Amino acid sequence: MSWFKREHGGRSAVAAITGLAASAALAVVGMGTFATHAAAAGSLGSAAAQSGRYFGTAVPAGKLGTSAYSTILDREFTMITPENEMKWDTTEPSRGNFNFGPADQIVSHAQAHGQRMRGHTLVWHNQLPSWVSNLSASDLQSAMDNHITQEMTHYKGKIYAWDVVNEAFADGGSGQHRSSPFQDKLGNGFIEHAFRTARSADANAKLCYNDYNIENWSDAKTQGVYTMVKDFKSRGVPIDCVGFQSHFGNSGPPSSFQTTLSNFAALGVDVQLTELDIAQAGTTQYTNTVQACLNVARCTGITVWGIRDSDSWRSGDNPLLFDSNGNAKPAYTSVLNALNSATGTATGGTSSGTTNGGTTSGTTTGGTTTGGTGGGACTATYSTTNSWSGGYQGEVKVTAGSAAISGWTVRWTLSSGQSITQVWSGTLSTSGSAASVTNVSYNGSLQPSASTTFGFLANGTPSTPSLTCS
Ligand code: XIL
Repeated sequence: MSWFKREHGGRSAVAAITGLAASAALAVVGMGTFATHAAAAGSLGSAAAQSGRYFGTAVPAGKLGTSAYSTILDREFTMITPENEMKWDTTEPSRGNFNFGPADQIVSHAQAHGQRMRGHTLVWHNQLPSWVSNLSASDLQSAMDNHITQEMTHYKGKIYAWDVVNEAFADGGSGQHRSSPFQDKLGNGFIEHAFRTARSADANAKLCYNDYNIENWSDAKTQGVYTMVKDFKSRGVPIDCVGFQSHFGNSGPPSSFQTTLSNFAALGVDVQLTELDIAQAGTTQYTNTVQACLNVARCTGITVWGIRDSDSWRSGDNPLLFDSNGNAKPAYTSVLNALNSATGTATGGTSSGTTNGGTTSGTTTGGTTTGGTGGGACTATYSTTNSWSGGYQGEVKVTAGSAAISGWTVRWTLSSGQSITQVWSGTLSTSGSAASVTNVSYNGSLQPSASTTFGFLANGTPSTPSLTCS
């Protein structure tokens, strides 16, 4: 029996799809800049970028060299999750011996093609080498901390979001944590501990909890995870996002899926669809799934778990958007059309928790200034992603205009007391209070309407700058 059937087979009853399409017009918070789309974009990634979202896929390092595969990857996808290469059994097969080679190949590919990375996954009961399960409690705690710290440090500045803890909740009606080496030896607190350790290792990556069968709002498992996230937010445990794996049967998402996404988002976390696949890839089922995300402003992106059906871990279900010959299936067109007709802009990026020894409060998003419209190059949008006493973290999204660009520079004026201490995914130059950030090699080229982001750390108090992009 496949791993999927054992672990995921319990979800036979997928609720009937009702109402999702009908509620497609529900409020989306738009920021204005991208409210109208001049033309439909021709790839999943560029279509998603029009509403400030990414469209990603799982990638095994072994397929990067196959051009039939990588051609589709680089044409369609703007976010990559290593399918297995960042899991514990690959990255630390024996204690203290780290192997980042396979995942490094994927990260290099992503950087060369302007794609962002989701780190998957640091703490999970599967694909866990047996030496970890055999440790005593205190040893396990230090091994877990070391694993998180080493892996996150190795990839510091290269990962958009980490699945810090994967699948920690039990299936069925308990709503409790599942039994695992971590749970059984360290207790409930292992999840919180993992997130705090992760924040210390890399204060800039978004930290996510990821799970399956948490898409249906009334399920005990969904409620268990929701209660945990609510508790984390209320106590300042650093969590920025929740990933909904979205491995669906042939009836697609439960009718409450959008409700679930918006209820989690209302706790102050971004939400993402992280491993989407749907048995038989029905067009309505895919449309409803994508639309549920598009209708929630803090749903910042969608990742499908593989490109072609032959790439799928559930290949017998033909659950993906491309057939085994690499041809787009009807569901591809449905997804592309849904992405192209999105209204409003995703407003993710706020994070909270405790960073750098200070307390943060979920800060604001917003502050948009456009430059070079009409024939022009690009627009830039600023958001404060984190702040603490005496400092803050900002993120700028650069979006190409109606033409492709091969480089960009964003300029703004620092307010009194502000100084930039670190920039990633961009090169900083300053002169007095004038700051400018130019693309680095891997993120200068943007297709029409495609976006990339850079981030920075600064001293001072956050304020919303007027940005120009050229
Ligand atoms: C799967 C991979 O796709 C397979 O290649 C591997 O054999 C098992 O794991 N939930 C997760 C993913 O978080 O990491 C799993 O990926 C699918 C289920």
